[in-house]
Amino acid sequence: MSDSDTQVRQVGQLPEIIVRGGRPLRGEVEVEASKNATLPVMAAALLTADPVTLPGIPWLHDVDTLRRVLMSLGVSTERSGRDLTVEAREVDPFAAPEHLVRRMRASFLIAGPLLARFGVARVPLPGGCAIGSRPIDLHLKGLQALGADVQSNSGYIEFRAPRLRGANIYLDFPSVGATENLLMAASLADGWTVVENAAQEPEVVDLANFLNALGGEVRGAGTPELRVHGQDRLHGATYQVIPDRIEAGTYLIAGAATGGDVVVGPIVSEHIRPLLAKLREAGAVIEDAGDYVRITAEEPLQAIDVKTMPHPGFPTDLQAPLMAALIRAQGTSVITETVFENRYMHVPELRRMGADIKIDGRTALVTGTPHIMGANLRASDLRAAAALVIAALGAKGTSELSEAFHLDRGYYRLEDKLGSLGADIERCRCSEEP
Ligand code: UD1
Repeated sequence: MSDSDTQVRQVGQLPEIIVRGGRPLRGEVEVEASKNATLPVMAAALLTADPVTLPGIPWLHDVDTLRRVLMSLGVSTERSGRDLTVEAREVDPFAAPEHLVRRMRASFLIAGPLLARFGVARVPLPGGCAIGSRPIDLHLKGLQALGADVQSNSGYIEFRAPRLRGANIYLDFPSVGATENLLMAASLADGWTVVENAAQEPEVVDLANFLNALGGEVRGAGTPELRVHGQDRLHGATYQVIPDRIEAGTYLIAGAATGGDVVVGPIVSEHIRPLLAKLREAGAVIEDAGDYVRITAEEPLQAIDVKTMPHPGFPTDLQAPLMAALIRAQGTSVITETVFENRYMHVPELRRMGADIKIDGRTALVTGTPHIMGANLRASDLRAAAALVIAALGAKGTSELSEAFHLDRGYYRLEDKLGSLGADIERCRCSEEP
């Protein structure tokens, strides 16, 4: 009996996405505004009582979750078409709901702005998630350095500081979330704050640009040293969030994995340089026009070595999708995950498809094989889910993906977009059938 024959489905594991693989993707795909830039910008809207309008925001579950957190705090949020307006006039800094903050770690980004504007905040502990324990110690240490009294109490963190004051903060690790929380808090603190070893991700730069659009003063964004001059108040703005480099990267990898010809845009190609370099190394042809990228690839790709690192290194969010392309490459790829300790949840699923992957600590040895077959798969988290879809697109036969709701956290209409590129993919409503 084959591995897939022995699979027993459990309740809640009905297939949600069905992919019949083996078709090269061809065509153009539109990239949305970045999820990971939208979330901090939404949290930063708490820093002002004026309205903040964000045009062209994709309706993703993560965006909806943060919107609901903001609404629980008393913030008014309004959607008009694809535009989102947030107005934080009346705010209860104690009202963040535990079930929503635990569901999505990015909700913890409300801590810095609430504390800075109201002098108090009560925020549930975000807890861990499938990709690792993901502590918040760097957020707390940084806010303490800005003068906050921080108490942990029955699953909640309570912050108090009548007025934050600027400080010099060195981050032990360039955490994206901690850098963002500190940028927001420092924007309403007294005097100058310097954050050293800050995250340099494009989403951090976008948040800095947004804070400056509100009348803030953030300098050095995109470098490891950020300087923030706190203001007495910030005002509203209309702000266009950057394109989603991870969504763009996912479609480029899907193009490469299927031996396709895909144009992805609008993007800022500089944001995905590490990925483009690796795809070129794997044998794909990349045409980089700056605001869009075209990839053409012949099968099979060549094996490559990849190590995830904070930006401008290779992004951890694209580790799983790239591995899914490399399972059919010629030779053995060495993938090392240095950012999160448990980000190989997709590996057992890829093995079900016939992938040859050996894990040794933080390193995965991926030996390519042409014999990748469709299987019943289960998604564990957002980027693992994207990886499984990519693997299924390149596989022979049919794959059924359960727990595909993870995709809706970060990919807007994934199956429609892949379908328009010629993929045979459908979302089924099997769970609603008798
Ligand atoms: C953000 C992204 C996530 C991406 C990650 C890395 C959002 C909403 N999420 O997550 O999609 O995968 O960046 O690019 O933008 N760490 C600590 N202490 C802390 C904070 C982090 O030890 O206080 C560690 C984490 O455990 C992890 C590493 O730092 O090992 C990176 O985490 P971080 O950059 O903070 O990621 P997030 O902001 O959670």
